[in-house]
Amino acid sequence: MKLQVLVLAGDGIGGEVTREAVRVLRHVAGKWNHTLTLTEGLLGAVAIHKTGTPLPDETARLAEAADATLMGAVGLPEFDNAPPDKRPERGLLGLRQKLGVYANLRPVRAYPSLLGSSPLKNDRVEGTDMIIVRELTGGIYYGTPRGISGSGAEERAVNTMTYSRPEIERVTRMAFHLAGGRRKKVTSIDKSNVLENSQLWRRVVIETAREFPAIELEHMLVDNCAMQLVLNPRRFDVVLTENMFGDILSDEGAVLAGSIGMLPSASIGDRKPSGAWVGLYEPVHGSAPDIAGQNKANPLGAVGSVAAMLEYSFGLKDEAAAVNSAIERVLQSGKVTADLQPRGKPATTDEVGEAICAAIG
Ligand code: IPM
Ligand code: MG
Repeated sequence: MKLQVLVLAGDGIGGEVTREAVRVLRHVAGKWNHTLTLTEGLLGAVAIHKTGTPLPDETARLAEAADATLMGAVGLPEFDNAPPDKRPERGLLGLRQKLGVYANLRPVRAYPSLLGSSPLKNDRVEGTDMIIVRELTGGIYYGTPRGISGSGAEERAVNTMTYSRPEIERVTRMAFHLAGGRRKKVTSIDKSNVLENSQLWRRVVIETAREFPAIELEHMLVDNCAMQLVLNPRRFDVVLTENMFGDILSDEGAVLAGSIGMLPSASIGDRKPSGAWVGLYEPVHGSAPDIAGQNKANPLGAVGSVAAMLEYSFGLKDEAAAVNSAIERVLQSGKVTADLQPRGKPATTDEVGEAICAAIG
């Protein structure tokens, strides 16, 4: 198979973790005889520095042409006080919108070998296996009007949380399809006791769910969900939610699994004529500038994102399973980075990447 992949390393530890993810991708391509073509592009702060904009046209063009895009991380502290449209993050948001990747899949699993790294007691977190389906191209991240106006006591800021019926329907269908291949339960998260936006969300989810009579649907308010994630994470199978709630809940979910460095994500949109999903693959963690360039970032979120790419964009289930099982075996071997608190000396970013390739064989 021909695999055309665009790599956007981005900022901070993005370069280090994508380097290891690419190492694994090359290894898989070699082993299964796929022809891998890699291109590189600029996104985020590095793109601002080199071109003046966080999402250069060239990057958008390359991403639309590629079969799949692998992203590292975006964001640097020097932009902390910049307005949202001048920040590195805007590049990522623009790319998600351009590609139309409206569903962001974030699997949260408690690996047995990582139970000790979870902040929760082992008996609480053990057996956790959920996937957060976060709406990714709508809601308050994109709604208008937005902005800051006025000055002095008159200064005010506005953001708008907006969803249309079709936007809710398509991500709901994605969640229910996924639930069909899992434990057949969807928990839809909203704040319908306060927000009209959430009232529409809940109503459309209920109506769309009728297309999937075999799947159980429940609703939960977002504040309660934040609590249930730490009280009883095992109760969740597929968690369906809007953009900002999903952003917040997925960081919480990530750390249940031991470290945010572990969490991969797949952002997918509609299918291309070839049948492949349009896909942007990105670890959930940020650019972690405090540890950038030190070869100590955990590359497993990025490596897991490669597994997701193989599965969703290329339909290569065996290859994806081989990567995921290599992750499990490397975790068991204890060759892990410092964030996972290994008993012995922590492994470096590239040692973990090499260990994954060796485990794939
Ligand atoms: C994420 C990140 C991004 C988001 C930032 C970097 C814009 O936090 O993917 O979770 O908020 O979506
Ligand atoms: Mg986030």
